[in-house]
Amino acid sequence: MSVIQLEEVRKSFGGVQAVDGLTFEVKRGEITGFLGANGAGKTTTIKMLLGFVTPDAGRIIVSGTNPSAVSTRRSIGYMPETAWYYPWLKVGELLRFYGGLCGMSRREIDPMASTLIKRVGLSGAENRQLKTFSKGMLQRVGIAQALLHDPEIYILDEPFTGLDPLARIQFRDIMAELKSRGRTILFSSHELSEAELICDNVIIMKSGRAVWNGSTEQVAGDGTRNLERVFLNIIGSDTGMEA
Ligand SMILES: Nc1ncnc2c1ncn2[C@@H]1O[C@H](COP(=O)(O)OP(=O)(O)OP(=O)(O)O)[C@@H](O)[C@H]1O
Ligand SMILES: [Mg+2]
Repeated sequence: MSVIQLEEVRKSFGGVQAVDGLTFEVKRGEITGFLGANGAGKTTTIKMLLGFVTPDAGRIIVSGTNPSAVSTRRSIGYMPETAWYYPWLKVGELLRFYGGLCGMSRREIDPMASTLIKRVGLSGAENRQLKTFSKGMLQRVGIAQALLHDPEIYILDEPFTGLDPLARIQFRDIMAELKSRGRTILFSSHELSEAELICDNVIIMKSGRAVWNGSTEQVAGDGTRNLERVFLNIIGSDTGMEA
């Protein structure tokens, strides 16, 4: 059963066609990697899935309804590409703030927040303000924030960026655990090897369209092709940014 569906979705900004007739679906309980060169339209698509950006045309259904419905937002854990957090807050305070926005009570937030702070490896940094955090530490905060209300669907914009190798492995384990509990994950990435390791399916975007969409097994299954090779073939000789 599909929890995310896009049909012929389009979005332009001025003269730039960021998303150009995009169609794909994501099935419940699967991990889908959303790949493509810089400027391919991944973040714009993700923002439309969250209801932050309105499409010019096409149809988007998330969890059976319109992405801007409040109930839909509650069922999604979102990690933005670039997060801005109040710099003077500590991680526990930030999670309390986000938990409150999701309608969680302090009694629900506090045990979940302390579990997640440990899980993302921020235990030693609990008393520090976020303005003192490194890029990777802030990325870990973003992961904790997306997981806090134990949503059904995870939409993550480049969650692996800035994570050190150990944190990557831990985050992969977190994703596998979410999947084992029937959660659905769509994440964008430039990390093809991570995508190959963890994804059930991959969607490769080019110039606002899905130019490849299939199971990771189809890409890597016979041992002679790997995702990097497929990606290079599809993206071809375009070495620069998308226009
Ligand atoms: N608010 C905006 N105003 C104008 N153009 C925009 C806006 N947001 C995105 N674009 C343009 O839309 C296109 C797609 O951008 P998008 O951020 O969706 O790409 P992306 O695939 O996420 O790239 P990256 O891998 O670099 O994050 C780009 O050409 C970008 O410049
Ligand atoms: Mg992006």
